Amino acid sequence: MKHSKLWLLWLTIIVISGAYLTYLLIDGEDKTMFMPGAMTGGHHQIGVACEACHTDSFTDKEDMQKACESCHGEQRKKPFDSHPRAKFTDPRNADRLENIDALHCITCHVEHKPEITQKTGLTQPVDFCVHCHQDIAEERPSHAGMGFETCASAGCHNFHNNRALYTDFLVKHMHEADMLDKQKMPAREFASVLEDIATYPHDRYPVGKLEVKDMDAPEGMQVADDIVHDWVTTAHAGSGVNCTACHMVSGEDDKKVWDDHPDHRACQTCHDIEVNQFMQGKHGMRLKSGLSPMTPAQARLPMKADSHDTELTCNTCHQTHAYKLETAAVEACLGCHDDKHSIAYKNSSHYELWQKESKGELPEGSGVSCATCHMPRTSIDVSDWLRRVVVQHNQNATLVPNEKMIRPVCLNCHGLGFSIDALADEDLVQRNFKGKPSKHINSIDMAEQDNKRHLEETGGETF
Ligand code: HEC
Ligand code: HEC
Ligand code: HEC
Ligand code: HEC
Ligand code: HEC
Ligand code: HEC
Ligand code: HEC
Ligand code: HEC
Ligand code: HEC
Ligand code: HEC
Repeated sequence: MKHSKLWLLWLTIIVISGAYLTYLLIDGEDKTMFMPGAMTGGHHQIGVACEACHTDSFTDKEDMQKACESCHGEQRKKPFDSHPRAKFTDPRNADRLENIDALHCITCHVEHKPEITQKTGLTQPVDFCVHCHQDIAEERPSHAGMGFETCASAGCHNFHNNRALYTDFLVKHMHEADMLDKQKMPAREFASVLEDIATYPHDRYPVGKLEVKDMDAPEGMQVADDIVHDWVTTAHAGSGVNCTACHMVSGEDDKKVWDDHPDHRACQTCHDIEVNQFMQGKHGMRLKSGLSPMTPAQARLPMKADSHDTELTCNTCHQTHAYKLETAAVEACLGCHDDKHSIAYKNSSHYELWQKESKGELPEGSGVSCATCHMPRTSIDVSDWLRRVVVQHNQNATLVPNEKMIRPVCLNCHGLGFSIDALADEDLVQRNFKGKPSKHINSIDMAEQDNKRHLEETGGETF
């Protein structure tokens, strides 16, 4: 008798806890208890949003692939990736997949396995290049005797991004001085290409200068003087962007209503590129995953204590209505970031250049701010017919591995050899590039050697 009562109790507990777990899984907020292990550093901020990767309860390899590509896709294509998926769907390379399935991200990047996860989220042994490049020493005598664990060390090769590290490029830039003759970042171009952007709301906000009397805030609305002042003296009023452009949002029945606190969607009408890039990077990844905006309280990196509750949206760096780019590029960042490298910036010669540019003592584009390196201005195809300079709002597009910074940033001012050496010097990165590099990486010397041999063998044909 006693025995069957116990059994009943046990059954009841199982049923209730089972129902509770099912409820959590389908409806509940916190699903982290089902997570088999901690998230990687890159994703810890979106760990609670299982659906960001497990798109439904039966996510297979291809679904997962699509989820990864929704954030990383732009960076995983040529020319940013030298081993893109397309390389291996090409029948000529199909035999390379016998030992390792390079078609799927999760072959090399599984989640929830901190015990096998390396610095860049890699979950393969570092020498996995051997699967496809066994013969490298025969093809390139300069590589004889090198272990496969060294292929991907700083300044040599990466699996994905080798844009500044392939032989032709190294040879082309081999004898450059530390400082180039011209030292300047490209200028911004948005205002000058507005006419060519078909999706821009030209009908409602024709480009032209607006005055205080043109303000289209709802009648009778009390507007603080500083709002009006900030708006009328800056770029938006200067280009015909009136109050309603940001403040009229879709309410019930799709009727437009005034909203005092519009979010990033209000900017999307005119700045969709910036909004999309922002959401693909670390700062915006929570918004993209349907979570609340990121705050420094959720960070693993050191942050200023008094910033802990500041939400990261478009208006955190761009002060609402003033939109001063200078503030966004340094002071905004230092309002939150508090690690050694960030703090060291103000002692660097780059900061001196930036101050001189801000005072007008140096031409525009010759200073180096936090944003110059982390949000560089680069020329991209923004549509089938238009290429223009865009401020990269995914601050991770140039971050890891750090050689990604060479082409869009350093090479505007420094030679290639100097840039490779500087980025491979971890102490120098910590000091935010105060002082000269103390390391020398052999990549260019080896490329030169290979090139010479190649020229001799082929009688003058370059790589
Ligand atoms: C950034 C992407 C990402 C997020 C977010 C994520 N996962 Fe995963 N998860 C993965 C990957 C990748 C794998 C490995 C898939 C494989 O090997 O087939 C995985 C595997 C799993 C597995 C199977 C483990 C195994 O050993 O087969 C479970 C269970 C799981 N995740 C639960 C969760 C839960 C619960 C959450 C949310 C609290 C979550 N995951 C959030 C990417 C993610
Ligand atoms: C919601 C957007 C999002 C999704 C979905 C996503 N990632 Fe990420 N991932 C990021 C961001 C942002 C970072 C941090 C920046 C970086 O290192 O590029 C990151 C970082 C990484 C890193 C580097 C980790 C590190 O520690 O440096 C790897 C590897 C990675 N992701 C692979 C994947 C794979 C594989 C998937 C699919 C299973 C995936 N990601 C899904 C946004 C996403
Ligand atoms: C065959 C192994 C392999 C596959 C497949 C692979 N990666 Fe990677 N991934 C690496 C290695 C190795 C690194 C370390 C940095 C490097 O060498 O580029 C890395 C680094 C990364 C990083 C951080 C550095 C960066 O360049 O942004 C991200 C993000 C990333 N991988 C995402 C992905 C995504 C998304 C996919 C699928 C589309 C994928 N990887 C497929 C091996 C792989
Ligand atoms: C699944 C097979 C595969 C793996 C694994 C692999 N590669 Fe490759 N790799 C290729 C193929 C295919 C090519 C193009 C043909 C060739 O040069 O052999 C290539 C080309 C290259 C090139 C020269 C061309 C370029 O575009 O930059 C470098 C450098 C390179 N790989 C480095 C690496 C490194 C470093 C690793 C390990 C982190 C690695 N590869 C892992 C298949 C692979
Ligand atoms: C480029 C977009 C943009 C334009 C143009 C703009 N605003 Fe705003 N405004 C915002 C955003 C974004 C916020 C919300 C900031 C927040 O939530 O912290 C805001 C906030 C406000 C607020 C609420 C302030 C508070 O402290 O609660 C008022 C009132 C306002 N704006 C009025 C105006 C008026 C009047 C104009 C025209 C003269 C105008 N705005 C033009 C983006 C804009
Ligand atoms: C109706 C279109 C429109 C909307 C909506 C809009 N902007 Fe703009 N924005 C512009 C135009 C046009 C310029 C270029 C002005 C120039 O450089 O002369 C601009 C310039 C900027 C600049 C650069 C300022 C400078 O000094 O060059 C920033 C930053 C900016 N916008 C942020 C935002 C944010 C954040 C939002 C959303 C809260 C937003 N914008 C909404 C049209 C818009
Ligand atoms: C981490 C800080 C930061 C955040 C967050 C941020 N921006 Fe910016 N943004 C900047 C900086 C810095 C610049 C100027 C860089 C320069 O001048 O080279 C800039 C420039 C711009 C410009 C001018 C671009 C051009 O080509 O003229 C626009 C528009 C803009 N941001 C819109 C946005 C929108 C929309 C969001 C939200 C999705 C946003 N920003 C979020 C820092 C930020
Ligand atoms: C409101 C606070 C805030 C502001 C302002 C801000 N950041 Fe961040 N930033 C963060 C947080 C939080 C993270 C995520 C850190 C983590 O996950 O540990 C982050 C991440 C980053 C990362 C990626 C670090 C990594 O390891 O993946 C870089 C780079 C970065 N920020 C640079 C900047 C720059 C440059 C600016 C100014 C243009 C800036 N941030 C402005 C809060 C901020
Ligand atoms: C000359 C270029 C340059 C400048 C200027 C610069 N950084 Fe960096 N930053 C880098 C490089 C390179 C890395 C290292 C990436 C790596 O090696 O992993 C980095 C890393 C970071 C990281 C990630 C740190 C970590 O431990 O993961 C943050 C956050 C950051 N920078 C913020 C800033 C801020 C804020 C400023 C301005 C106060 C700034 N940076 C100025 C080049 C620069
Ligand atoms: C807009 C131009 C510009 C860009 C972009 C730039 N630098 Fe510099 N950098 C300079 C100038 C100019 C100096 C020399 C300043 C001086 O001697 O006063 C310098 C100096 C340096 C120094 C030596 C500092 C010292 O104290 O002697 C290092 C190291 C350095 N840069 C690394 C880098 C790296 C790495 C990058 C790319 C991530 C980069 N820089 C991007 C212009 C630039």
